[in-house]
Amino acid sequence: MAGLAKQEGEKAAPRGVGNMAKVISNQPLGEGFYLLRAEHQNNARAGQFYMLRAWEQYPVLSRPISVYDADQETLSFLYQVVGKGTALLAGLKPGDTITLDGAHGNGFPALPDSKKIALVGGGVGIAPLYLAAKTYQKENPLCTVDVYLGFREKPILVREFEAVSGRVAVNVGGFVTDEVDPLAYDALVSCGPTPMMKALYEKCVNVKADAPLYVSLENRMACGIGACLVCSCKTAGGNRKVCKDGPVFLGSEVFGID
Ligand SMILES: Cc1cc2nc3c(=O)[nH]c(=O)nc-3n(C[C@H](O)[C@H](O)[C@H](O)COP(=O)(O)OP(=O)(O)OC[C@H]3O[C@@H](n4cnc5c(N)ncnc54)[C@H](O)[C@@H]3O)c2cc1C
Ligand code: FES
Repeated sequence: MAGLAKQEGEKAAPRGVGNMAKVISNQPLGEGFYLLRAEHQNNARAGQFYMLRAWEQYPVLSRPISVYDADQETLSFLYQVVGKGTALLAGLKPGDTITLDGAHGNGFPALPDSKKIALVGGGVGIAPLYLAAKTYQKENPLCTVDVYLGFREKPILVREFEAVSGRVAVNVGGFVTDEVDPLAYDALVSCGPTPMMKALYEKCVNVKADAPLYVSLENRMACGIGACLVCSCKTAGGNRKVCKDGPVFLGSEVFGID
């Protein structure tokens, strides 16, 4: 009600560009990972991201987080606590409000002619691959989607990935790229630490795989809408903005240059 002071303990609503959404759940999964689900009408696609904000003034910038899952009424985000912004997200309770600005970015490509697709994720980079697996299976039921998940310590969400893909291979503490045979696929899609995606690109080149490799970059961002150049990356086609031109690029565009 206008004019009334806030009750003790009442949280201020987050400010910022975007739409307010109600938190449905914010489940800790261990190792600093959380799965946040919010009520939000959307038509987000796999590989796109939102700018999230659950605070008023500080940190100044909203934080980019990939869409983990979506239906028309809800959005889910898988995130790992690494600093102030993600720690504030971890404090959200059901019923709290969050500002969601998106969906941004190009998302993963449709791969209608691919009969076998590999999705390769490392750490919190597995986040956009869940909706990717669901989407590729749904749009082409004859297509086989294999998922490769790499973790430093404890695996998470393996059963959830098994429910939406043909086969899930898990690597803990090693190199998930060792598990992947690029020659067995018509297309590969990857998200995770840059050295992991670069190693996968080099493996594809070394075995002379014809299959295209798509990589989703997680450069630091400020505006998230193509206005500030903070997220610029060098590609074969010149400097590109990861937030607007990406975050998904062909591996050869970003790793095939010196
Ligand atoms: C397109 C895109 C999609 C993303 N999707 C997800 C996701 O689904 N789940 C998720 O947990 N994270 C995701 N990230 C990364 C996430 O945005 C950052 O972890 C987050 O902004 C960190 O905010 P913070 O305030 O908690 O940490 P800060 O205090 O800002 O930073 C803490 C530490 O994390 C490092 N860091 C911050 N941002 C990044 C980054 N983009 N890449 C690597 N290191 C970083 C900093 O260098 C610092 O060491 C994504 C990033 C992008 C650009
Ligand atoms: S984050 Fe501002 S241009 Fe990409």
